[in-house]
Amino acid sequence: MQTIGSIHEMQSSAIAMRSSGHLIALVPTMGCLHEGHGKLIDIAREKADKVIVSIFVNPAQFGPNEDFEKYPRVLSDDLEFCRERGVDFVFNPKVEALYPEDFSTFVEEEKLSAGLCGISRPNYFRGVATICLKLFNITRPDIGIFGQKDAQQLALIRKMVNDLNLPLEIIAGPTHRDSDGLATSSRNHYLSDSQREDALRISRALETARELVTAGVRQVDRVIAEVTHELSQSRRVRVIYVQVVDRDSMESPREIIPGRHLLTVAVWVEDTRLIDNIEL
Ligand code: PAF
Repeated sequence: MQTIGSIHEMQSSAIAMRSSGHLIALVPTMGCLHEGHGKLIDIAREKADKVIVSIFVNPAQFGPNEDFEKYPRVLSDDLEFCRERGVDFVFNPKVEALYPEDFSTFVEEEKLSAGLCGISRPNYFRGVATICLKLFNITRPDIGIFGQKDAQQLALIRKMVNDLNLPLEIIAGPTHRDSDGLATSSRNHYLSDSQREDALRISRALETARELVTAGVRQVDRVIAEVTHELSQSRRVRVIYVQVVDRDSMESPREIIPGRHLLTVAVWVEDTRLIDNIEL
């Protein structure tokens, strides 16, 4: 496995791999890798000849009062994880390399990134779209792998690839859950044991939503009300949003269509922001 920090070196290696006919998959990450990332890497290995994992905590997607500084950075563990998982290249650039002082070009999607997390995190999706386009240009992947847990991010990246005619395919990896049901996330590291207990309400509430739909409920408001009620049972959980959305457009439907719509939630568990979703 090769670890590359230089943009030029990564780009030249990717171009060389492509001209030798290799299919490249990119798994973009911010590090602190867990089994959820592991599963995305497995998909990448299955679909491509060469796997690149980028590890970069992207300042452009954090707001001024968010956790950029304290975001867990554990590079040597991450490199070991990637080595064990059969990754070919880790791309780990410095902030100054990707965002030099005179950097002033950003990518903005104007529709599906406006709602949900876009409301409480105003520049978040602009930062995500910008870094992903940069990573695609540097690593030249045929395939980009993104987790379904970040459903709005996944929809945004698909939209950007389509709108900007980028020559790659986006593949979604299913949400990976720990044995207690909590969706794996680097931010789970912030949770104490008792906060984790509270966080488990999220996956239970999502299951409730699915059970209601399986039982024939189609009213969006009814499902949202039940889920919000369940989440609000703990005083340490503060609901940011509970929404039923179309998986591609992120628009709210009038009525739930099973297999097409997602129930998405974002909550604070004290000072940790968590998101999750389930297909209804
Ligand atoms: O999902 C993430 O970890 C990040 O948003 C991503 C896609 C690596 C961009 O920084």
